[in-house]
Amino acid sequence: MIPTTIDAARLLGALADLGRIGLDADGRRTRLAATDADRAGRDVFVARLEAAGLAVTVDRIGNIFGLWATEENAAEPPLLLGSHIDTVVNAGPLDGCYGVLAALEVIETLKEAGARPARPIAVAAFTDEEGARFAPDMLGSLVFAGGMALDEALAAVATDGARLGDELARIGYAGTVEPGHIRPAAYVELHIEQGPVLEREGFRIGAVENLQGISWQRVTITGQANHAGTTPMSMRRDAGLAAARTVAFLAERANQSNTPTVATVGRMSFAPDVINVVPARATFTVDLRDPDETRLREEEAAFAAQLAALEAEGFTVATEQLARFEPVVFDAGLVAAIEHAARARGLAVRRITSGAGHDAQMVARLCPGAMIFVPSIGGISHNPREATADADLVAGAEVLLDVAVRLAGIA
Ligand code: GLV
Ligand code: MN
Ligand code: MN
Repeated sequence: MIPTTIDAARLLGALADLGRIGLDADGRRTRLAATDADRAGRDVFVARLEAAGLAVTVDRIGNIFGLWATEENAAEPPLLLGSHIDTVVNAGPLDGCYGVLAALEVIETLKEAGARPARPIAVAAFTDEEGARFAPDMLGSLVFAGGMALDEALAAVATDGARLGDELARIGYAGTVEPGHIRPAAYVELHIEQGPVLEREGFRIGAVENLQGISWQRVTITGQANHAGTTPMSMRRDAGLAAARTVAFLAERANQSNTPTVATVGRMSFAPDVINVVPARATFTVDLRDPDETRLREEEAAFAAQLAALEAEGFTVATEQLARFEPVVFDAGLVAAIEHAARARGLAVRRITSGAGHDAQMVARLCPGAMIFVPSIGGISHNPREATADADLVAGAEVLLDVAVRLAGIA
């Protein structure tokens, strides 16, 4: 018999358990990639995979896989489901974890029902999806998909100066299997929307048809340190002010563009960082996104022109590209299958563009890929208040179940 419901209490319990891992002294949930807190989260996840009777492998970039294969289907390429369990700083409990734990729940449900899939089903938890500690984001899935050399990825340097390869070894997750050992037949990632669209428009499910391009840069503007009391405004080369003007330039341009372009400066530091010294140096990150590659390039060019104008004023400007991913269009057949599964359950569904980066955009290089979104309450994410109604979490997992039944060939 083909199951039509998952074990809601088990899924919600698993999310709560993982969500308790990595709370710091102030109660903030932070499991940055390859930290001790990430190790604790990984250990909990691996214990669940083992308890479910899955074959666990860890590849050399630390991606974790749990595979359910039978004697009859072991030679077939598996259906891969998954996401990530690393977090940003002061994160919510659902980003990534929902997709990983719902994938495991789907496999357990099918296994317990005695289903006999024509192909294996695997769940993946990819390393450093967030990119909050090691750039670029989606690093583990990028390496898995062959988009970045393993050695280059292992040499990635953290915001705290550590090397990814060393950190994976230290936490016991520098696996031995070569990345890409699983060649999936298809990849489906379930995720919270992390934006306001589904809730605002009253939809229960998003069938994600594309994902916007992402450009990350680190910018350093150098001016001249000087006395804050004695230096007339007209005689300053204030790197802090130049950085502030750049932030305003990006926001105003995005606001006035009447396009989906978004621009964010999420980190900034000044040197020497002293109250009565005109900043000599400002270092900040820029996150630019747009679903249209041509427009994203135009935004990058406009930003470069703004930096060139600062150089003409006498500042020195250095930039470093931390991540650059083109927009991705997901597999039309899979998107239609997700829509169909949602409608068959009577769930209001719409097609949607992902504003966030996801492992699916990397794995889609290897095989047909797509994503399922569920609503985020208040459109809030990357924030401890990130939440989704339990009924929506369960509905999303059951749509994933139906899609998996179809893609894994369960009759
Ligand atoms: C990942 O969460 C991203 O979109 O930055
Ligand atoms: Mn995520
Ligand atoms: Mn995230």
